[in-house]
Amino acid sequence: EKGGYDSFMLKEIYEQPQAVRDTMGARIDQEKKQVILPELNMSDAELAAYDRLYIVACGTSMHAGLVGKDVLEKWTRVPVEVAVASEFRYRDPIYTDKTLMIVISQSGETADTLAALREAKKSGVRVLAITNVVGSSVAREADEVIFTWAGPEVAVASTKAYTSQVIALYLFALYFAQVKGTLAAAEIAEVVEHLQELPAKIGAILANVEPIRQFAQSIQDATSLFFIGRGLDYAVSLEGSLKLKEISYIHSEAYAAGELKHGTLALIEENVPVVALATQPDIYEKMVSNIVEVKARGAHVLGFALEGDRDLAKSVDGVIHVPATTPMLTPILTVIPLQLLAYYTSAARGLDVDKPRNLAKSVTVE
Ligand code: F6R
Repeated sequence: EKGGYDSFMLKEIYEQPQAVRDTMGARIDQEKKQVILPELNMSDAELAAYDRLYIVACGTSMHAGLVGKDVLEKWTRVPVEVAVASEFRYRDPIYTDKTLMIVISQSGETADTLAALREAKKSGVRVLAITNVVGSSVAREADEVIFTWAGPEVAVASTKAYTSQVIALYLFALYFAQVKGTLAAAEIAEVVEHLQELPAKIGAILANVEPIRQFAQSIQDATSLFFIGRGLDYAVSLEGSLKLKEISYIHSEAYAAGELKHGTLALIEENVPVVALATQPDIYEKMVSNIVEVKARGAHVLGFALEGDRDLAKSVDGVIHVPATTPMLTPILTVIPLQLLAYYTSAARGLDVDKPRNLAKSVTVE
């Protein structure tokens, strides 16, 4: 059932090219290079009228939402707030008749996410769900559903569900931009072409795991680790950090790199491992100066850069290169080596990768 892999997690990591391909599937008009979302019940005019979005989810699904926020705001200029469901459900959110809520849940059964959905519906807010399970509570109760087609995810640590959720958010953001007219047809076509190249690029990353496996071995006895990045790299850092904590039991924190000097830099000393993501061209120089700051305090830095980058290697101890794509899509690629880092670290420590202590696959209680 693990298809020759030693764990479900590794199998699911390797299923990502397919999960991404299936989630895009019929939602791309090959000729027009546009997005089609026939599953939406609302008209284009209804959709275009929304001027404020909430994205509500837990854990890894919330991290997918953080990528979605940046992308939605960039492409549609509609303000988006991301909230963890356990907080959101007890808040007094500001709704108008132009507010749309997006809930994201792999299982479709997470208690807090479901409760947030119900609260919103009670207030008359339309809820769009992104979920992986047909027939789940979230799928049944939401007004609109965009399914991720990742297939069953068995390992507790979510991998292919996350990448599929991010793809669903890209598709929704492009469609929203299409109906709002905030992106030109040519701009949409360009992103669509980049989207279609992602499965092969994920495949290329999965074909060269040795550098990440070696780094995992080097950190297996670490007591603490930092992930740093800016912008979308920060959103991905949060996911990389959660994945590592969850299955390797090594403490780690993700920091927006510019925040380091406001406190956390005090923790950086000789040989503290730092994973530094520098894949976003417009903030690259700023990121490099943050890397230089942690290096100066003795950190052992693994940098992430785009293929073709020759500079980062000068400032770090090792570099993982990810294939280049348009900057908004890079998270889908950057997250793969981070998932592998968590996996190989857990495996090197001899832990049960698929069933970490204290955690359940689906959190159906508060
Ligand atoms: C982490 C992980 C969890 C889930 C969270 C939400 O690897 O899997 O953080 O993402 O429990 O679950 P769903 O998406 O089923 O609502």
